[in-house]
Amino acid sequence: MTQKQLDESVAHLRSKGFDTPDIGIVLGTGLGQMVDEIEDPIVAHYNHIPYFPLATVEFHSGKLIYGTIAGKKVVVMQGRFHLYEGYDFLDITYPIRVMHQLGIKRLFISNAAGAINLDFKKGDIMLIEDHINLQGSSPLAFKNVTAFGDRFVDMSEPYDVEMRVKIEAIAKRESISLQKGVYVSVVGPQLETKAEYRMLKTLGADAVGMSTVPEVIVANHLRLPIVAVSVLTDECDPDNLRPINIQEIIEIAAKTEPKMIKLFKGLIEEL
Ligand code: HPA
Repeated sequence: MTQKQLDESVAHLRSKGFDTPDIGIVLGTGLGQMVDEIEDPIVAHYNHIPYFPLATVEFHSGKLIYGTIAGKKVVVMQGRFHLYEGYDFLDITYPIRVMHQLGIKRLFISNAAGAINLDFKKGDIMLIEDHINLQGSSPLAFKNVTAFGDRFVDMSEPYDVEMRVKIEAIAKRESISLQKGVYVSVVGPQLETKAEYRMLKTLGADAVGMSTVPEVIVANHLRLPIVAVSVLTDECDPDNLRPINIQEIIEIAAKTEPKMIKLFKGLIEEL
């Protein structure tokens, strides 16, 4: 990754009218309905943006959309890149750096995740308070990282406290029951064994998924305040584990997304 590549990606998007976004939003697996909230959308397909990774997974439609939600300019990633698609850490976090160069001041992240904490149920939303990186490397482990920021990035509070407090207040107001906890990222794409779910619980995780953490590390590198939520799509009870299928995960994500939209829209209004 070079500054020149970022400049070319940004120039392409500016030429399409991506002018002054305030907020970047990443939509996770099965979470595409939020794009219907965007007024006056301008769409850029990932495959047309210079140096963007090529979109591969069919249920991710692979678009960057610029427009207005609740009176604020946003840039929304419909579909993200995952390690399990064969990309590396620099590929999957490149869009975060592009949105930062476009001028976003905050980042909202969503994902579909499995509930490790068995007090949580599928269809619940979990506000991410902290994370554990089990993906084996870092998006900051590259040679010229210091050209883009610090190498030894502080991670003592990676998720913005002020936005977390606001999300909790919005959930209360909207009568949305909101869980809070620790997200652990794994590579996937296979789901976990019973022994692995037991291990993740022992490590202190409340939810498990295959994304988000690299993006959060890069956003901290860029000093972008982050809010992140997991839509819980399955219950990972090692003593009573049912086979999971990805179609079911996507369906539950879609059914739960309206609650997430209320939280995100509410937060945009308050910023
Ligand atoms: N494990 C990992 N990733 C997931 C899961 C899970 O159980 N559910 C949704 N994404």
